[in-house]
Amino acid sequence: MEQPRLDAIRHWFDGYVQTFYDIDPDGLRNIQLKVEHTRKVCAVMDLLAAGEGLSGEETRIAGATALLHDVGRFPQYRRWRTFRDSDSDNHARLAVEVIREHRLLDDLPPDTCLLIEEAVRFHNLLQPPEKVHSPTRLFIQLIRDADKLDIWRVFLDEFTLPEEERASAACLGLPDLAEFSPSCLAALAKQQVVHLEDCRTLNDFKLLQISWALDLSFASSYRLLLERGYIPRLAMTLHGKRDEVDLSLLEIMAEAERRARHSGETTADS
Ligand SMILES: [Fe+2]
Repeated sequence: MEQPRLDAIRHWFDGYVQTFYDIDPDGLRNIQLKVEHTRKVCAVMDLLAAGEGLSGEETRIAGATALLHDVGRFPQYRRWRTFRDSDSDNHARLAVEVIREHRLLDDLPPDTCLLIEEAVRFHNLLQPPEKVHSPTRLFIQLIRDADKLDIWRVFLDEFTLPEEERASAACLGLPDLAEFSPSCLAALAKQQVVHLEDCRTLNDFKLLQISWALDLSFASSYRLLLERGYIPRLAMTLHGKRDEVDLSLLEIMAEAERRARHSGETTADS
C-alpha cells in the first residue's frame, strides 16, 4: 500500500465521522470520544511501528488498521446508543461491514486487504482465533496493543471527571460502588485477564483494565505502558478497601517491567 492510499482512507474517515455529528450533545460527546480515540490509536501505532522496526509498507498497513479498527462504533452508536457490544452488535464485525460497504480496500492487493480486515475483525476478541487466514498475526497483535494503550488514556480521563461530566456510554453503565467482585479479584491474583461478563461495578472494570497489562504482545507496548504510568494511575482511581488488589498490582508491574526489558524481541509470533 502506497502512502497516497493511506492518505485517501484518512480523508474518507474525516468525512465519514462528520456524518454522525448531527446528534444531541450527549451523543456528540460519545461520538467525539471515538474519533479522538481513533486518532490517538493511530499515533500509538506509529510509535509501536517505529519501536518494533517495521518496514514502510508494514507501517502503512498498521496505520490503516488503526484508522479503521473502530469505524463500526459510529453506526453502532447511531443505531443502539451504546458502545456495549453485548447490548447491540459486535463493533469489529460492524467495522468490516463499513469497510466493505464503502469499498475502502477494494483497489489494494487481496493479501493486504486480508491483513487489514482480519486485524480489524479480531481486534476486540479476548483471544484472537487459533487459525487466521492472514500470513502473519503481526497486525492483529499490533492493533490489539495500540487499542489498549489508548483505551487506558480514555478511561483514566473519564474516571477522573465528575460522574455527571463523563461520556455516558464510556463506562458501560456500571455503578461506581466501592466494591470488588470476588471473581475479578481472583483473576487478578492469578495474573489472568479479568472478563467483562464478571464486572459488576466500575471498580471491577478498572481491574479488567489493569489486567490488560498481562495481555500485550510487544516490548515497545510494555515500554509505552510503563512510560505513561497507566497501571498505577488506574489503581489510584479504585474506591474502597484495596489491600487484596495491591499485591496483585505489584506482581503485574514487575511482570510488565520484565517484558519491557526484552528490547528488540517481541512476545508475538509473527
Ligand atoms: Fe479502539
